[in-house]
Amino acid sequence: MNDTFLRACRGEKTEYTPVWFMRQAGRYLPEYQKVRSKVTFLELCHSPELCTEVTLQPVDIFGFDAAILFSDILIPMEAMNLELDFHEGKGPVFARPVRDQQAVDALVVPDPEESMPFVMETIRLLRRELKVPLIGFSGAPFTLATYLIEGGSSKVFLETKKMMFQAPEMYDALLRKITTCTSLYLQAQARAGAQALQIFDSWAGVLAPCDYERFALPYVQSIIRDLREVTDVPIIYFANNGATLIELTRTAGADVLGLDWRINIKDAVRRVGDHAVQGNLDPVALFLPKTDLEARIKKLLDDAAGARGHIFNLGHGILPQTPPEQARIAVDAVHRLSRG
Ligand code: CP3
Repeated sequence: MNDTFLRACRGEKTEYTPVWFMRQAGRYLPEYQKVRSKVTFLELCHSPELCTEVTLQPVDIFGFDAAILFSDILIPMEAMNLELDFHEGKGPVFARPVRDQQAVDALVVPDPEESMPFVMETIRLLRRELKVPLIGFSGAPFTLATYLIEGGSSKVFLETKKMMFQAPEMYDALLRKITTCTSLYLQAQARAGAQALQIFDSWAGVLAPCDYERFALPYVQSIIRDLREVTDVPIIYFANNGATLIELTRTAGADVLGLDWRINIKDAVRRVGDHAVQGNLDPVALFLPKTDLEARIKKLLDDAAGARGHIFNLGHGILPQTPPEQARIAVDAVHRLSRG
């Protein structure tokens, strides 16, 4: 088994820099489109065989050093008793947003093995096939809460922040339920065989640092504390748009901090040197001509040279418009240029 990724997460020496991409299984791949053309996104998420197939695709095609379980951060929200749908071109939609105490009380904290057996089955199937480590994941409680409260994607997060500021006790009750659900869900993934766990805080960057510290960070810390009691798999915390929060995210308790592209990785390493770092190429840099893309990758590798461990990644998910050939150029360049 190629364990380069796991060793980098733990801050151990590696022969080259391991690489994987957020959203590496997805619409930029014709192979994914083919599977997806026969089923809806939710049907795909509920099928262990199809999830296994699309998880393996990018690993087989490009030689990534880790696989990420194919699912979605909102799948456990279905298990909490919420009606979830994905609308073409619009993203996730919750028909009944959670905006009052009654709605909070109606949420159940599910047993992950009973309510999401298809996820655990996917993990078991993948472990039989994979020769690289498997990353399990969840959303962070704040990010998940924004979808529940807004009823879908948002730009201003008015309803979420209103609940924080006007009904902090209700907000806390909601976040505690999501936190317990997420904590149990990640523990179950580790038990099923996930070898690392990533927590996606996609919307952390919309909060003022004082609000992040009060309304988002404590719930992440609680999940990681729980995980440490039952498993020693590396934990990656990705707070998107988090450059202004980095001294705070450092206290989350993770092994690895995921970085978006808005921060220079050298600056990040200086500020969180006790962590391994993951990132942080602008996903749009994959549209650079080959020589410019390779030069940019070389610079990033050099800037990260002082890190306690570096896992190469994009600063956010790969865009659906990306030519697959560009992903291949990037993966090959990381492998070639990082060898000592
Ligand atoms: O390869 C992988 O990274 C694993 C699979 C994965 C998906 N979603 C598949 C997906 C992962 C790790 C996620 C996480 C996720 N989902 C996040 C956090 C990461 C981030 O991007 O910040 C968030 C915020 C979501 C919620 C979500 N899911 C949105 C907002 C959307 C619609 C926007 C979009 O890109 O279409 C999705 C749908 C989704 N999740 C798709 C995929 C492959 C596209 C669905 C399709 O095939 O039509």
